[in-house]
Amino acid sequence: MEEQGRVLTVPEALVNRRATRRFDPNHPLSDDLLKRILGLAACAPSSTNLQPWRFLVVRTEKNRARLRACAFNQPKVTDAPVMVIVLGYKNAYETHLEPMLANRVELGAMTTDGAAEVKARVSRSFPNNPDLATWALRSSMLASMSMLVAAESLGVASAPMEGFDHARVKEEFGVPDDHIVCCLVALGHALATDPFPGRFGLTEVCYEEHFGQPWTLGEPETLL
Ligand SMILES: Cc1cc2nc3c(=O)[nH]c(=O)nc-3n(C[C@H](O)[C@H](O)[C@H](O)COP(=O)(O)O)c2cc1C
Repeated sequence: MEEQGRVLTVPEALVNRRATRRFDPNHPLSDDLLKRILGLAACAPSSTNLQPWRFLVVRTEKNRARLRACAFNQPKVTDAPVMVIVLGYKNAYETHLEPMLANRVELGAMTTDGAAEVKARVSRSFPNNPDLATWALRSSMLASMSMLVAAESLGVASAPMEGFDHARVKEEFGVPDDHIVCCLVALGHALATDPFPGRFGLTEVCYEEHFGQPWTLGEPETLL
């Protein structure tokens, strides 16, 4: 799709977004748009507001070629002008709890007593979590989706990707062990409009009140 003046509504962006198959390698993405998309992605909700996503932005031709080699040679990695390696930071609770809480108190969004309670809760529960990778992935995936929707609403095409060698991406781009690679997101401009690949109806994906119990409300009249 083309960069355009009008910002799409959230329903429009959700309906129109496609996992872009072919990016225009000759159409760059402006710094302003990139920063806005990343800033909007970082508006995502996160567990305890710890914001464990990290965005490793890869733009040079050389580094996109290196990333493509880690991503089963998928052409979109070098065709798209921007590749974002979305990381999940497993130890955010150790390094970022204090500054997050201090900021929250300063914004008037929490009392100092409330902050102390959160700190106590986190120090009780987080160190015992055997799967901080899943913990970090949950919030980082929400940020990734926000990135896709933000891009679409601003006229930028995107593509989420899980087709990559996790260990190789980490090694090539110096990602430390306390970070996990959540996904890759390609950003740029599409060469063609990709067809809608279809979705299951609500009757297939919704249950009512109990697992397996059929959905009776039917389908929405409109998504827009
Ligand atoms: C977690 C995830 C990983 C994906 N990985 C890849 C990928 O590695 N390569 C690719 O071409 N598409 C990838 N896709 C895109 C999906 O194939 C695409 O979202 C799906 O077919 C639905 O198409 P749509 O997003 O255009 O509606 C991925 C999508 C998701 C959500």
